[in-house]
Amino acid sequence: MVGGQLERIGVSLPSNLLQKFDDILSKRGYSSRSEGIRDAIRDYIADYEWISEVHGDRIGIITLIYDHNQRGVGDSLMDLEHEFVGLVVTTLHVHLDKNNCLEVILIKGDASHIRDIRERITALKGVKHVKLTTAPPGEGV
Ligand code: NI
Repeated sequence: MVGGQLERIGVSLPSNLLQKFDDILSKRGYSSRSEGIRDAIRDYIADYEWISEVHGDRIGIITLIYDHNQRGVGDSLMDLEHEFVGLVVTTLHVHLDKNNCLEVILIKGDASHIRDIRERITALKGVKHVKLTTAPPGEGV
């Protein structure tokens, strides 16, 4: 295996998050938690590198789930949508349950701005999940 020597790290995680991760590893047939974490980190890096390499006009969808109880997160999200007003085409908000909201943001514009809003949304406290899909505008989403 290429990639250098292995290093051990200690990570603190909420127990319910770890439980969900372990459940998925079990369903997918992973033999060890370490292997699952390595794959998850590789996916995380690949996702970041992919969006960093996209240039020019794009149309895209950002899907996010956030904790409605986290103070200020809804307002911060709306502030961002106003800040990127030329980029955001429309949004869809769904109250998933007592605690969680799903928001779908349709965006169209330069890839660097799409990258910026995605990073800003990801950094908001209370945002649990962010997924960005983009395509050149001529090919749809
Ligand atoms: Ni809601």
